[in-house]
Amino acid sequence: MQSQTIITRDLVKSFSNTNVLKGVNLKIDKGGQYVIKGSSGSGKSTLLYLLGGLDRPDSGVISVDGESLANYSDEELANYRNQKIGFVFQFHFLLSSMNCMDNILLPASLSKKTSPNKVKPFVNEVAGLLGVTECLDKMPFELSGGQQQRINLIRAISLKPDYLLCDEPTGSLDSVNTEIVCDFLFKLSRELNITLLTVTHDKNVASHFSHHLEMKDGILYQ
Ligand SMILES: Nc1ncnc2c1ncn2[C@@H]1O[C@H](COP(=O)(O)OP(=O)(O)OP(=O)(O)O)[C@@H](O)[C@H]1O
Ligand SMILES: [Mg+2]
Repeated sequence: MQSQTIITRDLVKSFSNTNVLKGVNLKIDKGGQYVIKGSSGSGKSTLLYLLGGLDRPDSGVISVDGESLANYSDEELANYRNQKIGFVFQFHFLLSSMNCMDNILLPASLSKKTSPNKVKPFVNEVAGLLGVTECLDKMPFELSGGQQQRINLIRAISLKPDYLLCDEPTGSLDSVNTEIVCDFLFKLSRELNITLLTVTHDKNVASHFSHHLEMKDGILYQ
């Protein structure tokens, strides 16, 4: 059977003269719940971008389910993102020109395996659970930061990804909604066997996770 893991070897990434990732080695098992901690600027978002196929490393290997991302063309990488990855951005990347439902359904409209109509009932159900039903037909600028964050999360999980990469998913939420989102993420991970890899500065959120990783000086400690 094909192994369902994310493995990185000696991952290096620099921006101009700054070495951000200095040889990151990581192993993530399918279905696990992992949290990445580390000070601001230590490279946590940079690592998630590489794992999510949103950027490419300078050197090193990223292997997902036995396939090296380096072998993918840009189009294959886009398919990889669409089919396997859900990405909750640290700063909410909703398109300002379309309403929230259309933002959420964008991955489904690009998918070869499903369609917006098939995904809509799940979206409505999750929006209800997260308390943002009334936001769905609004434009992103009409929403608070915390509402935008939950819309961003619903878009990320809309296609039930194998791997959900969350960059500070509760950073704009109050404590009640943080709890609701955390409970929801863990339930989803258990029920659909979705692997969670989450960056957070919130100690309460981090305490829910079974596997703790720490980014320090460009090295990841597992
Ligand atoms: N696209 C980019 N161009 C230039 N420098 C970048 C770019 N992206 C990140 N960096 C730099 O890389 C370093 C790591 O950034 P990153 O966003 O990965 O940190 P982080 O650990 O996620 O921090 P935070 O906790 O504040 O979100 C920072 O010094 C940042 O300025
Ligand atoms: Mg970050």
